Amino acid sequence: MTYRLVRLSLLGLLCVPVFMNCSGPKAISHSKDKALLDQIETNFKDAAAQYKVLAANVPQGKFPKTYFPTTAKYEFSNSSWWCSGFYPGSLLYLYEQTKDPSLYAEAERILVDLEKEKNNTGTHDLGFMMFCSFGNANRIAPKPSYNNILLTSAKSLATRFDPVVGCIRSWNSKAGEYLVIIDNMMNLELLFWATRLSGDSSFYKIAVTHANTTMTNHFRPDYSSYHVINYDQKTGGVQQKRTAQGAADESAWARGQVWGLYGYIVTYRETRDKRYLDQANNIARFLLNHPNLPSDKIPYWDFNAPGIPSALRDASAGSIMASALLELSGYQEPAEAKTSLKVAETIIRNLSSTTYKAAPGTNGGFIIQHGVGHLPNKSEVDVPLSYGDYYFIEAMVRYKALHR
Ligand code: GLY
Repeated sequence: MTYRLVRLSLLGLLCVPVFMNCSGPKAISHSKDKALLDQIETNFKDAAAQYKVLAANVPQGKFPKTYFPTTAKYEFSNSSWWCSGFYPGSLLYLYEQTKDPSLYAEAERILVDLEKEKNNTGTHDLGFMMFCSFGNANRIAPKPSYNNILLTSAKSLATRFDPVVGCIRSWNSKAGEYLVIIDNMMNLELLFWATRLSGDSSFYKIAVTHANTTMTNHFRPDYSSYHVINYDQKTGGVQQKRTAQGAADESAWARGQVWGLYGYIVTYRETRDKRYLDQANNIARFLLNHPNLPSDKIPYWDFNAPGIPSALRDASAGSIMASALLELSGYQEPAEAKTSLKVAETIIRNLSSTTYKAAPGTNGGFIIQHGVGHLPNKSEVDVPLSYGDYYFIEAMVRYKALHR
C-alpha cells in the first residue's frame, strides 16, 4: 500500500463517531435526577461567580495554581507549569454554561500568555496545558490559528517520544533514566486530535504505542498502576517501578489511578480498540470495588494512605473519576454503566455539598476545597487545585449532556 493509501485507510478508521475533546458521552437510557440537575445549574452559577473572584486576583502573565485558606495566600505559576491550561479551560466551560461574556474575555486574555508553550519541548504535559485550553476554545469557536497552535503543540509533544522505549518521556532527569508517569496517558488526546486534523498518522501511532507500552509496564495484576516507570533508553527495558507522589512504591496513588482510567477511556474513544475499553473497565473495577473507597466516593489521596480512615481525601481525584466514569458509562454494558453513573452522581452530589464546595467568596475563588497535590513533598496539601475545579465542571457538563 502506498503511504497515501495507508493514510486514507487510517483516516477512514478514524471517521467513526468520536467525542471531541472534553465533550460528553453518548446519551444512554438513564433516569433523570432532577434535584441533581438543578444542583448542577446552581453550581455553574456559583462557579462563575467564584471564577470572577479568582480572575480579579490573577496577576498579568500568571496562572492560578492554588490558594491557602489558612494564610489567605495564592500560588500562581508561569505558563510552563503543567496546570496552566486548566484555568482558561474552566473559564471556557463556564462561559458555555452561563453565556457570561466576561468569562470568555478572561479566557481569551490568558490564552495569549499561554500560546508560547506550543513550542515547549521540555514537558510531556502539553496535552493538559494546550488541549484543555485551546482545545476547548477551538471547540467553542473554531479558528485556523487555534488549529495551528494545537498542531504545533502536538509536534512539540511528539519530540519526546522514543521508539525504543515506546513511550513519550515524562520528566527530564539524570543520565541513564527515562521516566514515564501514568499521568502521561492524559496527553494522548492532543495527538489523536492532531492526526485527525493533519492526516499525519505519526501522532496516532505515537499515542497508541505509548498506551500499549504503558498497559504492559505500568499496571499490576489487580489493575492498579505504578506512578513512575524508569526505562532503560538503550533497550526499552524496565529498570524500576516506583512512586513520586504516592504513599509508597507499591501503593495506589489516587490521582494516578484516575489519570490512567481517563486516559484509556480516551484511547478507546479514539481507536475503538476493545483492548483499551477492557483496560478502562478493569481499572474502574479496581477503583469501585476497593475497600478503601469511601461511601461518598471521594478517594483518599492514596488508596493505601497511612492513617485511613483519617487520611486526607483528594477531591481532585473524585472530580477526574466522575468525569471519566460518565464517559465510560456510554461504552459499558448496562449493569456496569448503571454503576458508573451512580458513582459519578454520588461524587458530583458530594462535591456540591458544603464539605467540598467552597462558600461564595471564599477559597480564593476556586470552586472545590480539599485537594491534595503532592503530599510526600508537603506541597499543595488539603487545598483547592485548578484541575480539581476543571474536571468537576467537566463532569457536570457531561452529566447534563446525558439528559438533553
Ligand atoms: N503530576 C500531575 C498530578 O499531580 O496529577
